[in-house]
Amino acid sequence: MLGRELRLRWRMCALRLLAISLGILLCTHFSAELRRRSGPPEKLVVAKVESTARDLNKRAEEMPSRRQVIYVRRSSSSSKAANPATNRRDNNKPIRWHIDLQPWASSSHSLDSEAIRFLRYITTTQIICSHRIKNGQTDQSVDASKPWTVCLDEKFNLAHQIRNKQCRVYSLGLGEDDNNFEVNMASRGCEVHRFDPSIASTQIHEGERLWHHRLSIDWRDPKPAIATHKLHITTKKLGTILNEFGHWKIDVLKADMESAEWKILENLILEGVVEQIGQLIFEIHLHWPGFEVSGNDSSVVRYWYSLFKELERKDFKLFYTYKDLSKPQRFLKKEIYNASSCYILSWVNTRWT
Ligand SMILES: *[C@@H]1O[C@H](CO)[C@@H](O)[C@H](O)[C@H]1NC(C)=O
Ligand SMILES: *[C@@H]1O[C@H](CO)[C@@H](O)[C@H](O)[C@H]1NC(C)=O
Repeated sequence: MLGRELRLRWRMCALRLLAISLGILLCTHFSAELRRRSGPPEKLVVAKVESTARDLNKRAEEMPSRRQVIYVRRSSSSSKAANPATNRRDNNKPIRWHIDLQPWASSSHSLDSEAIRFLRYITTTQIICSHRIKNGQTDQSVDASKPWTVCLDEKFNLAHQIRNKQCRVYSLGLGEDDNNFEVNMASRGCEVHRFDPSIASTQIHEGERLWHHRLSIDWRDPKPAIATHKLHITTKKLGTILNEFGHWKIDVLKADMESAEWKILENLILEGVVEQIGQLIFEIHLHWPGFEVSGNDSSVVRYWYSLFKELERKDFKLFYTYKDLSKPQRFLKKEIYNASSCYILSWVNTRWT
């Protein structure tokens, strides 16, 4: 009897042990899976913020390949995971998942032909703006910073909006630029929102019309699983921010996003957010393909070109182009085509007149 009872107890004990270890195994697996899934977006935030502290030239040399390795894996499914229905302006618009790629520049699909077409495009203005203002300043001689340029021609909306004190400027950055453009546009009477993940508090109200928000603009919303775990969400899509702020239009969108500009622009096009924007000023980076942009060099350049052609189709006209000679003169990691790794481009939405 005693022997049998002992055996029975032993068996129960073993069973319990088995159950516990199974539980532990499942737990580790599950958390590893969770970590795997939630890893990249957090890394992205960290990488973006970290990058603000780094020397630009150094980054141009070494960061691209590392960043690419981190993000490329998520490229195909990530944009689909976002829920466009949360953007209420989209309700009547057909949902788009992809931008329309332009035909190849030549039948050989060579980098040469793509690059020549693209570089010609970004260095050729499409409309004349006779009243251009750099950095919001009237006195153009004093300014040595980057030429963030808006068009104040009477035929476009911005001049009227400024006069009526109804102008709104959004500035997307990563905290490494001076604030001249923002400060000057605010003193011209615009309501200026600067989005910068590196500021100390969640919001700083500087002067009457200038707000700094501790937010970084992304091309997708954080996944809900992360949102519930993280108290401080620091990245959002522009469309989401517009909805949350109750803003229906932006007169000027300035973006200096250190190679995230391609996917951000794609997101604005796919969700129809560009139509709510009057003028766009983008700094573009050509020394590597950019976050989550993949494919061989010719495909990358064709993709960049196609994004701009989408803008053109929505009646955005390029009125200002600036080649930054102070940055490395590199195009997709090579010193070719006499190109710079960095250009500043300004478009005006000619539907907004
Ligand atoms: C690059 O890839 C595309 C398709 O992905 C292909 O059609 C093209 O020929 C390739 N270009 C070169 C130069 O290899
Ligand atoms: C290269 O670009 C610079 C600056 O844009 C220009 O001054 C120069 O003439 C160009 N060189 C060639 C060979 O095209």
